[in-house]
This record gives sequence, C-alpha cells and structure tokens, in this order.
Amino acid sequence: MEPDLLLNEVAAVSVTCVIGLQWGDEAKGKLVDLLTDEHEIVVRYQGGSNAGHTVVTGGQTYKLSLIPSGILSPNVQCVVTGGVVLNPASILQEIDALVARGIKVGKNLMLSDRAHVIFPWHIAEDRALDKSCSSGENIGTTMRGIGPCYGDKVARSFAVRLGDLYRDNFRERLEYITAAKNRSLVSLNGQTGHTQLDAEAIAREYASYAKRLAPYVGDTTAYLLDAVEAGRRVLLEGAQGALLDVDHGTFPFVTSSNSSGVGVSSGSGLPGRWITKVIGVVKAYSTRVGGGPFPTEQDNEIGQHIRDRGNEYGTVTRRPRRCGWFDAVAVRYTARLSGVDALAVMLLDVLSELPDLKICTAYEIDGRRITNFPSHVEDLRRSVPVYETMPGWQQDITKIRKMADLPLAARKYLDRLSQLIARPVEVVSIGPDREQTIFARPKS
Ligand code: IMP
Repeated sequence: MEPDLLLNEVAAVSVTCVIGLQWGDEAKGKLVDLLTDEHEIVVRYQGGSNAGHTVVTGGQTYKLSLIPSGILSPNVQCVVTGGVVLNPASILQEIDALVARGIKVGKNLMLSDRAHVIFPWHIAEDRALDKSCSSGENIGTTMRGIGPCYGDKVARSFAVRLGDLYRDNFRERLEYITAAKNRSLVSLNGQTGHTQLDAEAIAREYASYAKRLAPYVGDTTAYLLDAVEAGRRVLLEGAQGALLDVDHGTFPFVTSSNSSGVGVSSGSGLPGRWITKVIGVVKAYSTRVGGGPFPTEQDNEIGQHIRDRGNEYGTVTRRPRRCGWFDAVAVRYTARLSGVDALAVMLLDVLSELPDLKICTAYEIDGRRITNFPSHVEDLRRSVPVYETMPGWQQDITKIRKMADLPLAARKYLDRLSQLIARPVEVVSIGPDREQTIFARPKS
C-alpha cells in the first residue's frame, strides 16, 4: 500500500468513545443519544444486561440494556461486539419491546458471533458465588450471570459463543457442559439447593433463540474495521463506569469486564490509535450500587435528598443507589486511565436545593494525605475524604440552555471540577430531556 494512501485513511478516522468515570449510571445513555446524530454507527462493546440506560426522546421513555440507544435513530447502524456477554432471552425481549413501539429493528442491528452467551447456569453461579465473597461483604452483583459467563470465556472449556449456537456439535457440547455444571452447582449449593439443568430443554430453548437471532448475527470486528477504514463515523458506548473495571477498578467490587477506557479496543476490535475522542461522563455527585468502599458516601439525609431528587434507583434491579459527594480523586484517576479529552457533567440540577456542596480533593489514610487513587480496596476502605466546600445555588436550573445563564455558584462548581480533573467540561445536563443539555461550545 502507498504510504500516503495509508495517511489519508488514518486522517479520515472518526471514532468517539463515551466512558463513565464513576461506578456506572452516569447517564451515558442520554449523552450517547445526543451524540448519535453526528455518528453513523453506535457500538456496545463490553458488559451485558447488567447495564441499563434510560433515554427520553420525543416525550417517550425507552429503557435499554444490551441494544445501543442508537436504535432509536432509523439511519444509525447498531453493533453489539464480541466483548459483550449476551443473554439471548433478554435481547429478544428488548427487540420485541422496541418493535411493539414502532421502532425498526432489522439490518440496523448487528450482533457479534464472538459474543459469549449467558446460560441458566451462569445465573445460578452468580447467585451462589456472590454469597461467598471472601471479605464477608457481598459484591452485590446484578445477578444477570455476567461474571460467571466472563469466567467461562477466560477459562474456555465451557464457553459458548453466539456463533457456536449454529454449529452441528452444539447439542453435544451442551450435554457435556450441563453435566459438568450440574456437578459444580451441587458442590456449591448442595443437592437440595440445586435444580438439575436439563440439557434437552436448554438445547430446545436456545435453538429457538438462535433461529430468531440469526438475521442479526455477523462478524462485527471485520465490519467495524471496514467501516472505520471507509471513514464512517463511529460512536462507542461504554457500559458501567471505570471504577468498576475488573483490572483497574475497586476490585473485587467490580464488574467482570474492562469498563474503563482501556477496554474499548479489546471489546470492539478497533485499534486504540484509531480512537479520536474520549468523553468522560460523570454525575455532579457520586453513586454506587452494590457492595464495596465508597469514601464520599453520605448515608444520611444528604444522600437521601440526592437519591430522591436524582431518582437514584437501579434501572436493571431497582435497588436504591448509594449516594455521596463528588470524588475528584477517583475521577481524576479514571479520566487519566481512560484517556479522557473532555467531560460531560450530568444531573447538575439534582444538587440545586443544597445550601453547600462538597468535593473530595484528597484522601487521608492513617493521617497521611494522598491524591492518588489506592490500588488496594482495603486502603480505599480506610481512606477518609478531605473535602472542599463550595456554596450551592438555590435556584431551578432545569430551563437554562446556556452556560453563561447558569447561576455563578453552579459555574464555579463546574470550573472547580474541571480544574481538579484537568479536563474541560464540554457538556452539562440539567434534566432528562434532550433539550435539557448545555454545550460549552454550542453544536453547529
Ligand atoms: P455484575 O456486573 O452484575 O457482576 O455486578 C458487579 C458490580 O457491578 C455490582 O456492584 C453491580 O451493582 C455493579 N454494576 C454492574 N452493572 C452496573 C451498571 O450498569 N451500573 C451500576 N453498577 C453496575
């Protein structure tokens, strides 16, 4: 290939990523929805139906889990890559619910034949294993079988990928796997605590899923490489948040995939050097679902106020989310880890009634002040947040559409976040609707 031709191709590449920088639920779905107009392809590349996002558009609310919110835009191609763990029943339910509401789901959805498939034993293992987490505190998973499915993927022997459902030996493999899983689940749960998995019934059930999913299945890696080389504009939407990254998050209180920016390339199959922009999404405060340390947690009336105002209940499990102040130590870490270029600050309106706002700017461990995010979860557990207090704004901001019209205290709060994380704030969200969004540089 001619060297200058290669240069031309690289110059045309446009790949944007949206990454949550906290513990998930940063309202990434809304941002992805807003950015979708500027992209031709929207990609989900890790996680599974543990994620849930709500998109409000045209007065309608859509709750999506595995399918990218790009599906709501008829001209956008949606891709679910091999980095995802896929529960066929869940995705079919999502497809049916969208179709029932008049949304087109056909060639505009592509599912990777490399995606690993979730089976009933993964959900049974999730239940059994979450109980026995070594520190005594449960991980508090979403019980969707995510961790056990990723575990089988890495261990390989019992893994089934979507493409395997269409192979002649699928039935035979299923018998082998169910026999082994029946044995291991009996040893985890005891004879009485385990209902035997029936290979025959599972084979029938999954054959019917395979039939229905067949029109969507393909090689998404090849598709995306071709698409980027052809200069098509791609948007990659991360699921969960960077603090839940299996390698770089608050292990073991994490999810089982690389949910920070480091996972984009392995999950999608696109080389990291092709990523042209990374937008880090944060809430104006912090939330966490499930177990694990959360230094800025406010298990008090402030936390409850945030929960009520922000409707902080899980989209997937409806569990109340733990709420607290913005943690700039954690977000500075995840912004660097994810190679973030700019920030989107969501749910700023939730803080509107509070007289004072706190931002955690450092931790103290045994009287020693640190600004690096601890690598061991027990050090994080011992970390005492050092706060800076800023005045709040007692004013409704949900109808404001320009940065300059925000109350001075709100602008100062955003400036301080930007300064602490060393990234510009490009987007501010002040309500669930598309219109309730402020762009630092107005969109052309
Ligand atoms: P899992 O992903 O179901 O294995 O759950 C592992 C941890 O990640 C638990 O603390 C979950 O609450 C959390 N988690 C998983 N998915 C999400 C999400 O989409 N938002 C927030 N937390 C999540």
